[in-house]
Amino acid sequence: MPSTDRSRKAPEHVAIIMDGNGRWAKARGRPRLFGHQAGARRVSEIVEACPDLGVRYLTIFAFSTENWKRTQAEVSGLMTLFRRYIIKEAQRLLYKGVRVRFIGDRDRLDPKLVKLMDDLESLTAPNDQVNLTIALNYGGRDEVTRATRRMARDVAAGDLDPEAVDAETLSRYLDTRTLPDPDLVIRTSGEARISNFLLWQSAYAEYEFIDTLWPDFTAEKFAEILAGFGRRERRFGAVLV
Ligand code: IPE
Ligand code: IPE
Ligand code: MG
Repeated sequence: MPSTDRSRKAPEHVAIIMDGNGRWAKARGRPRLFGHQAGARRVSEIVEACPDLGVRYLTIFAFSTENWKRTQAEVSGLMTLFRRYIIKEAQRLLYKGVRVRFIGDRDRLDPKLVKLMDDLESLTAPNDQVNLTIALNYGGRDEVTRATRRMARDVAAGDLDPEAVDAETLSRYLDTRTLPDPDLVIRTSGEARISNFLLWQSAYAEYEFIDTLWPDFTAEKFAEILAGFGRRERRFGAVLV
């Protein structure tokens, strides 16, 4: 296959740690929630840029298992924002051919929010233009822990042979079981850390840490990063000849 074909070099799955909303708001003398609202508006732009850029899977980190440590006002503001986002965007996502999935532990979330999440997943299930996964109350360690607990239950019930457990088996117990591994992980806001995002799945992802704060992230910036990805050489431990 000719390697000049741009779509061949596009990452199939891009995961984004959307960081910097609070600092963006602070720089404008506004409350943190103002930054989160601006950040939420950016999501649609990036999702809708995916088909043209050849990205089939986009996963975004919206709320981590550690984000409960924030003030109650910020946490409840974020939860309201998630509810409003789903209600406001559902029809548009459906119309744009976006299939939405959620990953993370739903047990700690408000049942009203969980219902909206379930409904959006069902509504958009027939779509396949873009696969948008929203990580909400998600933590990589929490996900692996929950998966291991379910696996242990299956072993105890005699439904799983412990000797047959391999990496594939564990992958099938993760929230991401229906997704390919991310090829590229982008983090905005200048922090060079992964903050418990997709730990298992990103073992061979390429990373891009950029200074832009999430509410300033644009489709043009996204396209630039993807072009850079196309120039990277991925080896997966092998020696290329
Ligand atoms: C990312 O922005 C959004 C969430 C974690 C929900 P932050 O809220 O972390 O913004 P900064 O890092 O404080 O600027
Ligand atoms: C990571 O950002 C979580 C999300 C983007 C949802 P944080 O702002 O919570 O991460 P730390 O605290 O800087 O590591
Ligand atoms: Mg942050």
